[in-house]
Amino acid sequence: MTDATDMTGHHRGTPVPALLEELRRLAALPLERGETLPPEAYTSPEWYGREIERIFRKEWLCVARADEVPEPGSYLRLDVLGTPLVITRDEGGELHALSRVCRHRFMDVLPPENTPGKGSLKRLVCPYHTWTYRLNGRYAGQLAGAPLMHGVEFERASCRLPAYRLAVWNGFVLLSLDPRAPSPDAGLAGLDRVLAGYGLDRWESVVTLAWEDVPANWKVAVENGSENYHHMGTHAATLEPVLPGKDTRVDACDGRWFTMFTPFAAAPGERRPEDGEEAPGLLIAGIFPQFVLAVLRDSAVWIRWLPTGPASHDARLTALVPPGASGAPGFTDSLEEVRRQLTLIQEEDLVAIRGVQRGLNSRPAPSNGRFSHLERPLWQFQRYLAERLL
Ligand code: FES
Ligand SMILES: [Fe+2]
Repeated sequence: MTDATDMTGHHRGTPVPALLEELRRLAALPLERGETLPPEAYTSPEWYGREIERIFRKEWLCVARADEVPEPGSYLRLDVLGTPLVITRDEGGELHALSRVCRHRFMDVLPPENTPGKGSLKRLVCPYHTWTYRLNGRYAGQLAGAPLMHGVEFERASCRLPAYRLAVWNGFVLLSLDPRAPSPDAGLAGLDRVLAGYGLDRWESVVTLAWEDVPANWKVAVENGSENYHHMGTHAATLEPVLPGKDTRVDACDGRWFTMFTPFAAAPGERRPEDGEEAPGLLIAGIFPQFVLAVLRDSAVWIRWLPTGPASHDARLTALVPPGASGAPGFTDSLEEVRRQLTLIQEEDLVAIRGVQRGLNSRPAPSNGRFSHLERPLWQFQRYLAERLL
């Protein structure tokens, strides 16, 4: 046994080098012999620190939809890995990701205590001592005014809020905290082809639901969202009758993204589609480390997760509809129904997500669980992790 409990009652987990060795072994296994990650990979603060530095602070993270910042002057407040940010749209329509940390004395320029999470602004005014920052074009983030600073030596011209890299891909706002990150769509060309027919860049965000500080490691949530095997347990009364997990066809992907497809269950007496005929159903597309999209013809749900600690994360779900759908009669009532269903399904998932974390926290926690063929994306995820963490 590699675990021990120290005098204060804290678990002393497997050291990171041993976990890395185990990840190396797992990532080399074929799917047929695939096993789960060791429990400490979901609980160790040191391991988590490595994930933040080597994955989250390097990758492009999918954090919003461009239509959440719809017009010049619009802003959206976001906290990404403890970094307070604001996404703004300038008068030319360009998006910017700016730090919300005031260059005077570190104040959050849009404090959640008394400022809405989204809205419209001409300039950013720090509410502490009213230093003001521009939001237009190439001047975005530049200090515009700082009252009562003429009595000291102070160079205004070089004072600005740092900007982070931002890109829009299929209508999703991607953000990187790493100025040297490779191109945002590197490795996504194959997924672009899968999604091309949907024209997702023009879909509209209609409902967003948020769960903060869910008590589970981010990977527990990502793994839950990356397989439909659990429809038969977790969603037995909701999704399973309509989208039976066992019928899921998981595509043989590798790298940063995966796809799978679950056809709708045939109603009694309904003809099954012939070979070569496309059955209607649910397409799932995931991009590691924190994005899963579930697309039907007339609606989609996008989930993104952000870790907030070794055993906690934020989850946000957004329902999207194709262009024009929100203008249809009865749409507002159907939105209420969408909100109700998404909440119900997410609450079902949270039972599993919290329950798995309790199991991972137990000592000694069981390990070396085995994967079904339907869990191929979890196996692929280990190879992704190995590439970045080893
Ligand atoms: S901290 Fe922002 S103006 Fe003083
Ligand atoms: Fe689920």
